[in-house]
Amino acid sequence: MRVSHVALDDFRSYRHAVVELPRGTTVLVGRNGQGKTNLVEAIAYLSAFSSHRVAAEGALVRLPSNGEDAPAGAVIRVRLVSREHREDSDPREQVIELEIVRGRANRARLNRTVLRPREIVGMVRTVVFAPEDLQLVRGDPSVRRHFLDDLATQLRPTLSALRSDFERVARQRGALMKQASARMRRGMAPDLSTLEVWDQQFATLSAQLTSARFELVDRLRDPVARAYAKVSDSPRELSMSLESSVDRILGVPSGEQEQEQAGAQVQRVLDALARVREREVERGVNLVGAHRDELVLDLGGMPVKGYASHGESWSVALSLRLGAFAVLEEDGEEPILILDDVFAELDAQRRAGLAEMVSGADQVLVTAAVADDVPSSLQGHRLEVRADAQAGSVVSDA
Ligand SMILES: Nc1ncnc2c1ncn2[C@@H]1O[C@H](COP(=O)(O)OP(=O)(O)OP(=O)(O)O)[C@@H](O)[C@H]1O
Ligand SMILES: [Mg+2]
Repeated sequence: MRVSHVALDDFRSYRHAVVELPRGTTVLVGRNGQGKTNLVEAIAYLSAFSSHRVAAEGALVRLPSNGEDAPAGAVIRVRLVSREHREDSDPREQVIELEIVRGRANRARLNRTVLRPREIVGMVRTVVFAPEDLQLVRGDPSVRRHFLDDLATQLRPTLSALRSDFERVARQRGALMKQASARMRRGMAPDLSTLEVWDQQFATLSAQLTSARFELVDRLRDPVARAYAKVSDSPRELSMSLESSVDRILGVPSGEQEQEQAGAQVQRVLDALARVREREVERGVNLVGAHRDELVLDLGGMPVKGYASHGESWSVALSLRLGAFAVLEEDGEEPILILDDVFAELDAQRRAGLAEMVSGADQVLVTAAVADDVPSSLQGHRLEVRADAQAGSVVSDA
């Protein structure tokens, strides 16, 4: 798939911009801080309503300059050209719009028809590789869970609702634990009368989320290993597995629950919760559940985190992204590949390896402050991005 036009209103540094993007590779060049990342971020945001840069949506709406009224919200609108999961069908064009409104629910439109934002999740598929991705390897487990969940959401958009439901229930259950813990410390009996209801909901959602992750890791395993073999010059094999926090608590080797029925999985979460109950009340937090799952990465028998070199870590991060690309493609629709500022970080061999792997993609959007960092095989159409004090970021043919 590809995006043929992007229109932005009050998104980050953009006041109003309409940009036409061709098939194949487009390189966005411009000095630091001009709005290159902002443009690709807008497209990527539509895929799973999450950004590779911020957690808070508020930052996406343009901040007013001195004395000006704050914009009510930001609008991202794209014209999407897709093959609709069938090789032989004519490409289909759709206009997808998301309005991010300050302090209120977002609004979405598909070909001018108003929809709930959840209904447009996953229509635009993207894979973003950016310098922040080193955190996929070096950062804490939540970064890797986020990676899995964003990809799973693109494959199965209903997961978007599951994720927010789980987060809400985990927050509420956590608050209950905190209250109980505070009462204990003051020498009073903890009030756990509503806990059973919360446990049931929590266990149901947690089991669903963990099982979606197991399923995804199975699909990712081979493509990621293949990508690593290609981008690195190492004979060591990259392998991955999901370590569920429930398995950890129950002392079961990871992955054995995969074959189980949903009901049995929920029961296992409840069993694990029962085991940690006392400690949870003591410490006032949720100690087991999908929010504690970990994606374990391993290079030839050695954990990547804490052992891999800087260059190896980069190759692993890149392989995870390329693996994601392969999984989405296999699922029927090739994603738009976004390479945000990555060539400056890679050595010549990895640059060439990456360029070769992505050269056949429907659409690749590359950002670079220095155009020469981009390998010549990827020097497609070039656009210049420049920030103007009055007009905000402006995109023009270079
Ligand atoms: N909500 C916002 N409102 C106004 N300006 C914003 C907003 N969010 C970010 N910016 C501005 O956008 C600019 C950064 O744009 P962006 O990250 O796209 O730069 P870039 O061209 O990718 O630069 P680099 O080469 O350093 O990566 C900064 O000047 C920042 O202050
Ligand atoms: Mg940038």
